[in-house]
Amino acid sequence: MKPEFREYFTREFFDEKPGEAEAFFESLLAPRPKTFRINRNKTSLETFAKRWKSRGLPMEPTSNPWIFSTGWDRTIKLGKTPEHLGGHLYVQELSAGMSAEILADWIVDENPDLLVLDMAASPGGKTTQLSELYPHAGIVANEPDKTRIPQLLENIDRMGSGNIAVTNVSGAFFARTPEVFDRILLDAPCSWEGIAYKAPESLDYWNIKNIEKIAKLQKRLLSAALSALKVWGTMVYSTCTMNRVENEQVIESCLRSASDAYRILFMRRYFPHVDEGGGFFIAKIEKIAPETPRIAPPHIAKPNEELMPADARSVRLLRDFCDAYAIELSPARIWRHRDTLLSFADASPGSLIARTWYTLKFGYRLGHMESAKFIPDFRLLRDAGAHSAYVYDLDDDEFARFRTGEHIHIRDATLPDGHIAAHHHGIAVGMLQKNPGTNTLKNHIPPRLRKR
Ligand SMILES: C[S@@+](CC[C@H](N)C(=O)[O-])C[C@H]1O[C@@H](n2cnc3c(N)ncnc32)[C@H](O)[C@@H]1O
Repeated sequence: MKPEFREYFTREFFDEKPGEAEAFFESLLAPRPKTFRINRNKTSLETFAKRWKSRGLPMEPTSNPWIFSTGWDRTIKLGKTPEHLGGHLYVQELSAGMSAEILADWIVDENPDLLVLDMAASPGGKTTQLSELYPHAGIVANEPDKTRIPQLLENIDRMGSGNIAVTNVSGAFFARTPEVFDRILLDAPCSWEGIAYKAPESLDYWNIKNIEKIAKLQKRLLSAALSALKVWGTMVYSTCTMNRVENEQVIESCLRSASDAYRILFMRRYFPHVDEGGGFFIAKIEKIAPETPRIAPPHIAKPNEELMPADARSVRLLRDFCDAYAIELSPARIWRHRDTLLSFADASPGSLIARTWYTLKFGYRLGHMESAKFIPDFRLLRDAGAHSAYVYDLDDDEFARFRTGEHIHIRDATLPDGHIAAHHHGIAVGMLQKNPGTNTLKNHIPPRLRKR
């Protein structure tokens, strides 16, 4: 840990309290129990807990009712559980799980007209949490770094979030669409000092010049987010740091020229020696009056021209499939992109997003059309629930093989031909397919979800 880091924090926060300063420095690198969030779009606390505990797995409550810890048992591999593969849990740090909750005031907002922006989204912990908190809104999840996009897409898919569109631009770009978003989360790129226990060497490189450089980008992003926010809209600015330069000073600098237009509703620093989780900072801001637009080049809409509401024939074939499998389609609007059929939350934010931005991913992939036939995507059988005749329960051995992509030999001779939902411990984890006259089930687990 660099002396400069110690001096800065002692001076700014613990000048009169040397004992507390030491406790703070020690806590930065101390290991923490693993924590995970339960996906309320797929399960309830009761159902999750019943299945989890019946297998002897620990879940200890935390200050967030949806986040649990596995305690100090390091043998539990959360990523290997069916709950992980089926998207019933997301491994999330406790403090990091606060920003989206504070944006939503800890309640699920069912309003279908909201447009929400997650400006710096990958790997998607908070994006998928926003989808739980705003299940009917349209959510734009933006990530400018192409190398971080696959992880974001995979997490959105795994958690079965059906109301997210992914864009790939700098967050600063959203200054070009003033006053369109009802809620914005800016979980800004930062110096990571609050999660130094994951990468202790990060504190060896800490220096104020570097922090100031990061703060410049943070100011550009916050300024864009404030522009993009509607009057009476709210936003959260968060970082996993505790220094003032990346937090209060960024906010002060952005609000200085328009202090009458904004109100700070909440501001809190999470210290790892005081709070349960890692170091973090959250501020919630409301726009209370229009602001002279901050200077930005005009937005030129470049939507995906091939994304359009699905034609009646494709919708009919999709509905026929769903009826046969007793799958209930949510009332979402059905879209088509080339041969792919998609659903997107509710009509109003979906249409606005489709018209305004170029998206790498739009809503939920249901399947595709192939010579006048609807072919389901593995997600549809995994997430929508299928008629019990089309469900196959994998035993432990089969589940281990399923995860590697192997086909499965059929134990159950009564299984009908067609697409089958694969379950393990009562959790839908993917799709299998029984072709006529065969005694193996084809495994549709996508290569990126396979574990060797
Ligand atoms: C703290 S991480 C976000 C974590 C994420 N919110 C989550 O909960 O999983 C910050 C993200 O900001 C992205 N980023 C970097 N520069 C950016 C920019 N100019 N605009 C928007 N995001 C940016 C980084 O690539 C990184 O993925």
